[in-house]
Amino acid sequence: MTTPAPPPPTDGPDPRDLAVCTSGLRKTYASLRGRSTAVSGLDLHVPYGGVHGFLGPNGSGKTTSIRMLLGLARADAGTMHLFGQQVPKALPDVIGRVGAIVESPKFFPNFSARRNLELLATAIGAPDRAVDQVLTDVGLHDRAKSKYRTYSLGMKQRLAIAATLLKDPDLLIFDEPTNGLDPAGIHEIRQTMRQLAENGKTVLVSSHILAEVEQVADTVSIIGRGRLLAEGRVADIISAAGGSSVRVAVRSEDHAAAVRVLREAGLDLTDDATHVVVRGVDDAAEIARRLGHHDLWVNELVTVKAGLEQVFLELTAGEGPGTTAGAGALAAPRPQHAGPGTDTVPPAAPESPYAPRTTHTEGGAR
Ligand SMILES: Nc1ncnc2c1ncn2[C@@H]1O[C@H](COP(=O)(O)OP(=O)(O)OP(=O)(O)O)[C@@H](O)[C@H]1O
Ligand SMILES: [Mg+2]
Repeated sequence: MTTPAPPPPTDGPDPRDLAVCTSGLRKTYASLRGRSTAVSGLDLHVPYGGVHGFLGPNGSGKTTSIRMLLGLARADAGTMHLFGQQVPKALPDVIGRVGAIVESPKFFPNFSARRNLELLATAIGAPDRAVDQVLTDVGLHDRAKSKYRTYSLGMKQRLAIAATLLKDPDLLIFDEPTNGLDPAGIHEIRQTMRQLAENGKTVLVSSHILAEVEQVADTVSIIGRGRLLAEGRVADIISAAGGSSVRVAVRSEDHAAAVRVLREAGLDLTDDATHVVVRGVDDAAEIARRLGHHDLWVNELVTVKAGLEQVFLELTAGEGPGTTAGAGALAAPRPQHAGPGTDTVPPAAPESPYAPRTTHTEGGAR
């Protein structure tokens, strides 16, 4: 039995065209200082098919939003739809099509992965053959006989994903599935999510590490302080953020002279004592040539492409720590969804989770 789909809202996308849609979603919690706002008028638009990254820093409201979508927390205001049906009212009709990992799932430590899944399959009425299938889907088939307690963190997380797949859901919701994993484990989970998307599923994955998810996501929503800052395809968001997306970092033997020459050339630059960072340049070699004309030799020339973290920082620039949630005066780029399609962007420099990423290095030693 299904609930009739609601009429389309007067503005914004039609929820029937989206796997997940929220509009004006709001949640406050009682706090020592009255009520604090965890989610502040959030609009979320997750298209059918592909991986959608739900991105934002710690405390921005990702888990709270997911809990509301799944009926685990009550919204104060706003509307939510899954597969075009309004939830929580229609949850009994749609929850069978949703697999989710929100909290760490519990498995029996002394049972094998296969035994754990068999017990779960029986409990939810999934066919026995589903166990083999999901073990294969997450790449655990060869280790299925090992006891759960002997599994690595990455394997445990993949088993959690396998458990969500038992009922063959159309929508997977994973809240920070790579938390605590090493790079190899993160890579495995990414591959698993891509595989699910290629099998026609919709994957909604949250993360506070923007650079990590932009590599696997077809589309993303970036939130801050409980409200949407930007949404759409990764490449579109980065280009909508303006011409500041490409920078060139230059290290030269005479740093002060290099700063002077580049400044006199009218370039937009910042100076961090060892490197000059030039914004909005198309041709890195042009910088080397300009310095060369003044007998200044380049020791290092690095093209730095902005990623989502850089966009996030630019969108929230000027927001002090005391800013009230939802009150930011941000001009958020909200490009249209352009359909699935992977925009692979190289990984972030590991030392700074919200730093621009180094993508290309050209040497220029004297
Ligand atoms: N049960 C709760 N009671 C009170 N406040 C809460 C509760 N759950 C969340 N919050 C607050 O709501 C805000 C959003 O938290 P939430 O867990 O949704 O953020 P998040 O984006 O998932 O963060 P993280 O990346 O750290 O997981 C935070 O300020 C948090 O302290
Ligand atoms: Mg969270």
